[in-house]
Amino acid sequence: MENVAVIYGSDSGSTKKVAALIAQQLDVDCYDIADIDVEDFEQYDLIVLGTPTVNKGEIQSDWDYVLDDIEDLNLAETKVAIFGLGDQIEYSDTFVDGMADLAEVCADAGANIIGQWSTEGYKHEDSRAENDGKFIGLAIDMERQADMTPARVEAWVSLLKTSML
Ligand SMILES: Cc1cc2nc3c(=O)[nH]c(=O)nc-3n(C[C@H](O)[C@H](O)[C@H](O)COP(=O)(O)O)c2cc1C
Repeated sequence: MENVAVIYGSDSGSTKKVAALIAQQLDVDCYDIADIDVEDFEQYDLIVLGTPTVNKGEIQSDWDYVLDDIEDLNLAETKVAIFGLGDQIEYSDTFVDGMADLAEVCADAGANIIGQWSTEGYKHEDSRAENDGKFIGLAIDMERQADMTPARVEAWVSLLKTSML
């Protein structure tokens, strides 16, 4: 796909690895949010944004710094897909919450958010990233379900490709 970028924030490297896998399958470039300017977001047809949830329900800090700037963008021509990493057992009440913060500012910027994902197969109790019984993006758990990650990424990337046709 043309004009697509994968952008992630990561504290301990898992989100970076998943971002690289998604970028490889989409055949596009991958960037750390700490290294790029959010104003570049407007140039893409699709941006795939990834964050872990940290500190019991918070978005990763490099994303936190730029949330207000993202909200001020014009993303009316840009589709956004979100993926989030979390731990559904240790943080069962705040599982992948950080995705919700990204979705909120992107929606405020006018973006069309694609890539909603079924909650089936996860054991969490609660998540701010659920809407109408689905996750607002791909939920990945490298602590509890790392073996499911390749298949989940593959299915989600197929979904994104279909949404871009
Ligand atoms: C102090 C701490 C707090 C965390 N809080 C949450 C949380 O609230 N919700 C969640 O789903 N995962 C939580 N996690 C799990 C991380 O999101 C998970 O380990 C993730 O894979 C880390 O990604 P990274 O390696 O890209 O930083 C927490 C992890 C740590 C160490």
